Amino acid sequence: MSIIAFVNQKGGCAKSTTAVHFAYWLVHRGNQVVLVDADAQRSSSIWIDSLEDKIPCVVAQTSQELLDCIPKLAKKYSYVVVDGPAGLSDATKAILYCTDLAIIPCQPTGVDLRSASDAIRLIRQAQTQREGKPQAAVFLSRAVKGTRLKDEAITLLTNIGVPVLDTVIHQRQAIADTFGQAATVWELLGKASVEAAEEFEQLFEEIVEIKD
Ligand SMILES: Nc1ncnc2c1ncn2[C@@H]1O[C@H](COP(=O)(O)OP(=O)(O)OP(=O)(O)O)[C@@H](O)[C@H]1O
Ligand SMILES: [Mg+2]
Repeated sequence: MSIIAFVNQKGGCAKSTTAVHFAYWLVHRGNQVVLVDADAQRSSSIWIDSLEDKIPCVVAQTSQELLDCIPKLAKKYSYVVVDGPAGLSDATKAILYCTDLAIIPCQPTGVDLRSASDAIRLIRQAQTQREGKPQAAVFLSRAVKGTRLKDEAITLLTNIGVPVLDTVIHQRQAIADTFGQAATVWELLGKASVEAAEEFEQLFEEIVEIKD
């Protein structure tokens, strides 16, 4: 699984936050990693550039640029992490036509669950043309502790037929602070960031264990 993309048409579901943290985590496990920023806001590339540890990053936003650069980068790096754009644009379709694994972050609310099912439909279309690729999985992001929405969302997503990862990433101020602090949760001090880091680590272990 060398090309792993975070996709969902819904803005704000944590695609960029997860992509940057995943790239950072992979680098610190000794992997050669490049992040592809496919989002017009360029938040992940700005964030990656602001980090103390330098991680290679490529901005590619049109479908042509993405189809051209992602396979080439996959030959050079052990992992290509793609931060997908908001919206189900041609760029998202292009990403789904060359990624090995599509991860859908999804907030546990009705509107977000509908967006996730739109993304899943697009993934299914790609799978029929690519002999089952890309693999896909959903995880719940920005879940508020103590709400029941989480359990309902897991049941709903499971019924859609895409694996739901066990790890839930909760809404945490420590995560919201990272971009502004030019950091990741591993670089911030305090108990809250340690807990956030543990959640990310558990999620990323699950992602890299997904096999072809
Ligand atoms: N677990 C979390 N807890 C608190 N805040 C979070 C969490 N995950 C992300 N955020 C915040 O939510 C906002 C949206 O996150 P992010 O930019 O990663 O989403 P996105 O899916 O990439 O959005 P877009 O589609 O607009 O690119 C950011 O301000 C980010 O700091
Ligand atoms: Mg983003």
